[in-house]
Amino acid sequence: MNTDGEPLIEARNMSKSYQMGEVIVHALKDVTLKVFPDQVTVILGPSGCGKTTLLNQIGGIDSPTGGKLLIDGQEIQDLSQKKLTKYRQSKIGFVFQFFNLIPNLTAKENLEFVLEYVMDLPSKEVSRKGKTLLDQVELGDRGDHYPYQLSGGEQQRVSIARALSKDPKILLADEPTGELDYETGKKILELLVSFANNGRSVLIVTHNKELGKIAHRVLHLKDGRIVQEIMNEHPLSVSKLEW
Ligand SMILES: Nc1ncnc2c1ncn2[C@@H]1O[C@H](COP(=O)(O)OP(=O)(O)O)[C@@H](O)[C@H]1O
Ligand SMILES: [Mg+2]
Repeated sequence: MNTDGEPLIEARNMSKSYQMGEVIVHALKDVTLKVFPDQVTVILGPSGCGKTTLLNQIGGIDSPTGGKLLIDGQEIQDLSQKKLTKYRQSKIGFVFQFFNLIPNLTAKENLEFVLEYVMDLPSKEVSRKGKTLLDQVELGDRGDHYPYQLSGGEQQRVSIARALSKDPKILLADEPTGELDYETGKKILELLVSFANNGRSVLIVTHNKELGKIAHRVLHLKDGRIVQEIMNEHPLSVSKLEW
């Protein structure tokens, strides 16, 4: 396990507050954490404890209101909007809880959209890479289907393929099995876990304690704070997981 080397993600006393009229919501308080390459990290906590907020800061969708956030050695909390977008596009793959596919594009077009407009690949490459990505998530025969014609698990796989299309170093997954049945959820987890090699890292946030067993590192989030950190020398293989 690579815990002596440089972390890929490091938060130091990071906080995030939202001003809601008269009220300030402190969604993240003093969060200090490290996420290492070649590891699966799972953040566990109940609904409302700040999981999505934490992923959104790391993913550059939102910016912390306090503390430091270093990704791959670069401080990102003070980046301009333009640089933040570039950072997000080059380093981060985001798997959203509700898939967030574009409804009027087919599975293949959802991928091609990213390859063409975000990755700026030439059109010949776009089609080839789109097909390779679909094959990678075993959806080679579903490319022409629209999201509404796909099951939850299939939509989630398209969403993972889309995240992988940018060849990111970090894959962030928000409740990746939340909407899926048990068997489909396991397949999705296999895919996510297999990503954590060659210096790449997977960070999963979930309320499902069982998922902690497949992680090298488990962080417990409670009311916006990390309250416990557990290392797993020998994470359980996804096939042995039960919930
Ligand atoms: N954009 C926002 N504006 C105001 N409050 C927010 C916003 N996003 C999250 N919150 C609040 O921050 C807290 C943590 O939310 P969230 O990160 O979504 O939790 P989780 O993903 O663990 O369910 C909640 O109290 C939520 O209402
Ligand atoms: Mg959430």
